[in-house]
Amino acid sequence: MNDIFIPHSEIERQYEIAYSLASETKGKKACVITFGCQQNENDGERIMGALALCGYEITQNPDEAQMIIINTCAIREHAEIRALSEAGQFKGRKERDRSIKIGLCGCMAQQSHRREQIYKSYPYVDFVFGTDMHHRLPEIIKTALSAKKRFSFITDKPHNEFGVISEGMPVRRENSYKAWVPVMYGCNNFCTYCVVPFARGHERSRRREDVLAEVKGLVEQGYKDITLLGQNVNSYNGGCDFATLLNDCASFGGEYRVRFMTSHPKDASHELIDVIRDNERVAKHFHLPVQSGSTRVLKLMNRKYTREQYLEKAFEIKEKIPEISLTTDIICGFPTETDEDFADTMSLVKQVGFDMIYTFIYSPRVGTVAAKMEGQIPKDVSNARFKALSDMENDIAQSLNDKFIGRTLRVLSDGFNKNGIPVGRSTQNKIVTFDKAIPAGEFADVLIETAGAYVLGGKIK
Ligand code: 5AD
Ligand code: SF4
Repeated sequence: MNDIFIPHSEIERQYEIAYSLASETKGKKACVITFGCQQNENDGERIMGALALCGYEITQNPDEAQMIIINTCAIREHAEIRALSEAGQFKGRKERDRSIKIGLCGCMAQQSHRREQIYKSYPYVDFVFGTDMHHRLPEIIKTALSAKKRFSFITDKPHNEFGVISEGMPVRRENSYKAWVPVMYGCNNFCTYCVVPFARGHERSRRREDVLAEVKGLVEQGYKDITLLGQNVNSYNGGCDFATLLNDCASFGGEYRVRFMTSHPKDASHELIDVIRDNERVAKHFHLPVQSGSTRVLKLMNRKYTREQYLEKAFEIKEKIPEISLTTDIICGFPTETDEDFADTMSLVKQVGFDMIYTFIYSPRVGTVAAKMEGQIPKDVSNARFKALSDMENDIAQSLNDKFIGRTLRVLSDGFNKNGIPVGRSTQNKIVTFDKAIPAGEFADVLIETAGAYVLGGKIK
């Protein structure tokens, strides 16, 4: 097996390139625009870290940036359209000022058909780089500053060959008390609807000691809410299993929380459930995507579990951890989904009682098995199913939240919401509003007095 870890000497070379750019980037600003999941947000923070290392000042405002990087998502068509329309915004600016550099990266950039479209229709995009090129950013920036022609840094190898891990490149975190820590990258599951294995390569785990050192450092810096990230964290194998890693990450001193995203139901282990129950620093929130309540559809999705197996796992979690908040993802309108299949999804959602569901309308993805299936579902049918699920879930979430009235929840303050009301999150990841301002990043006890489907309200004790 090839060593997937980028050698230290190569990382050092990248630092040298970054430092050599200081005079060229002095006084210049860079902006990273990120779409998509937390994994991508974290990539965005790493891209900003590399740009800052090269000497750029980081700005949120692309209009004042000389270097703009669009970090794209490909999970559904909607995400791709948004990223492309973002790229389109810069056409006029580039025509007025040729010295501005525009780069595009992330899951969309990793797909050849999208790259071709970008080359053809977006001539003002100067460079493209793939999801496993972040450690080479200083080299990419250097090339962008001198290149006369458009260029790309892409590893276009088959799925089971591409994928690296780089340690030691800088991260520029956007939040001073909440942080993401990737524990693994990629996915080997090949759910038939999903583009992730093609866009992010095969599963590979960071070394246990590297993850622990990063988490320890964050805790020492005062971070209070740390989310361990991976497409399927339960396949973690960087020196121990995921349950052990989670427990170890939540064993440094002081008050803080550790969360994780995302688990595959087929390998969410008993040990993991026990760690969530027994370690008080592990947040009492389990996101366990079910995708469908029909065993027939689950089989077509290649999910490798049945409705009954999912129910068994969900009930084990709820029984062992009564205060858990259980959330899930569901896809409506997967090819061939019948009214009966959808009724199975509705009944599963009711039976489990999820605190929240993220419902998506199936979006065919180029290169996936499902995109070629017969029996694609008309949009109006999918939309109606989406609405029926959302309506039912609102009632379920409301009745689950009603049970919090009169209880005291420990809340990590996020400062104020957009209406100027003090707000934070409980260990269940519930949004809680309260009566007195608490500095963002501090914990407080809140007596819950009101409950909506997705927001609780109360008084500081
Ligand atoms: N269409 C619709 N939803 C999708 N998801 C993944 N791929 C697709 C697709 N092609 C959803 C799944 C996954 C979540 C992150 O996005 O529910 O859990
Ligand atoms: Fe996609 Fe399935 Fe992997 Fe999740 S587990 S990223 S849905 S292939």
